[in-house]
Amino acid sequence: MVAGAERVLRDNWRQGHRSSDGVAYAFTCPATPRYRHQWYWDSCFHAIAWRHFDPARARAELRTLVRAGRLDGFIPHTTFWDRPAYWRRAPFYGTHTVFGCSATATIQTPLLALAWELVADASPDEPGFAREALAQLRLHYDWLAAARDVDGDGLLTIIQPDESGLDDSPKYDALYGWMRHDRPGYFWLIERYRRLSYDAGSIAERYDEHVEDVTVNVFYALALRSLARLCAAAGEDGGVYEARARGVEQALLGRSYDEARGLFWDLAGRREQPLRVSTWSSLAPLALPGLPEDVRRRLVEQQLLHPRRYHAPFGIPSVSIEEPSFEPGFQLWRCWRGPSWMNTAWLLVPAMRELGYEEEARRIVSSLVEAVARSGYREYYNPIGGRGLGARGFGFATLLVDLIAPSGNGAAFTAATSGAGPMMQP
Ligand code: GLC
Repeated sequence: MVAGAERVLRDNWRQGHRSSDGVAYAFTCPATPRYRHQWYWDSCFHAIAWRHFDPARARAELRTLVRAGRLDGFIPHTTFWDRPAYWRRAPFYGTHTVFGCSATATIQTPLLALAWELVADASPDEPGFAREALAQLRLHYDWLAAARDVDGDGLLTIIQPDESGLDDSPKYDALYGWMRHDRPGYFWLIERYRRLSYDAGSIAERYDEHVEDVTVNVFYALALRSLARLCAAAGEDGGVYEARARGVEQALLGRSYDEARGLFWDLAGRREQPLRVSTWSSLAPLALPGLPEDVRRRLVEQQLLHPRRYHAPFGIPSVSIEEPSFEPGFQLWRCWRGPSWMNTAWLLVPAMRELGYEEEARRIVSSLVEAVARSGYREYYNPIGGRGLGARGFGFATLLVDLIAPSGNGAAFTAATSGAGPMMQP
């Protein structure tokens, strides 16, 4: 199984020089033929998996992601490198013009600094790696705070559902309506925001279709903590990132936590309306060690272990089983409405272990091992029957190796994030 993961990563590896300007690239495309470009969060997950096989490739993938960024610190959701968006897909991408762009003008869940720290830990042969991109990482996270914390409450805003990576999640249905990711109106949503140059400030002033997304902000907080540690290790002051991370955690607890339901909700539009659909996003703050333990335990006991909610035979469903929108099987253009994805388990399982739910954590990992044994590394899996669905040879499904390696992600991730800050009071 581990060899199979390495094969997927090696098969999907792309490297060369962009023909238009000679810029070097090296990254793993998520899956051919469907996903041929470099996606931001996929690349971070690929690098995290690569570090078990070939840390040099993990480093190259993250360096390429940084190189895809602009000088002001923006890093795109998707960079096309030498494969311009194909005419059937180009209109879906958040680019400035339909053709002729080298990357999108949108973002994706910003976990780069977290991936950088994990890869740096696996790079004893190249100790300089940990600090070589500190200036760019600072710029990136400063850009996010300046451009995407639109109302100054500490939480990042996304303007399109695919900016979280959870494109068609039912949590966005009520807000985006006919402009949902899986509806024709999505083209209009892109066009509308294209006309405002994807400037989140202008968009938030005029429209209400934007979200302070829980998953995005959980990964953001984890990455800010990683960045603070990378700064400290290099002898630089990273206090500002530590403080920002605390601010994000406090804002999540204070604004998006629903005490009565024990779940976190995305906040929509200027009035921060909670989007009350239970998806794995509502559980993502479990991965924040700085949150009160009782809040985190409740997420495990009342959600992850609940047979009508997230306790499924295979993996962790992306939507609570009791939600009317829960759809475990394959549906064209829809993938986040129920199936189990590997990155969900990757985020939540180490936190379960850290809180002492070892047996349950092991059950989830074993179920994913079984699903991969049956169907290979697929984009996602049916949480009820275990069948592999969507793309084959899918890059970030190989995060499984991180969950099963003794020195792997489960252990490393917990070590990297625990003790990251004082326990906060609600
Ligand atoms: C799909 C997924 C998204 C991923 C992309 C590339 O759009 O929803 O999360 O980044 O494919 O794999």
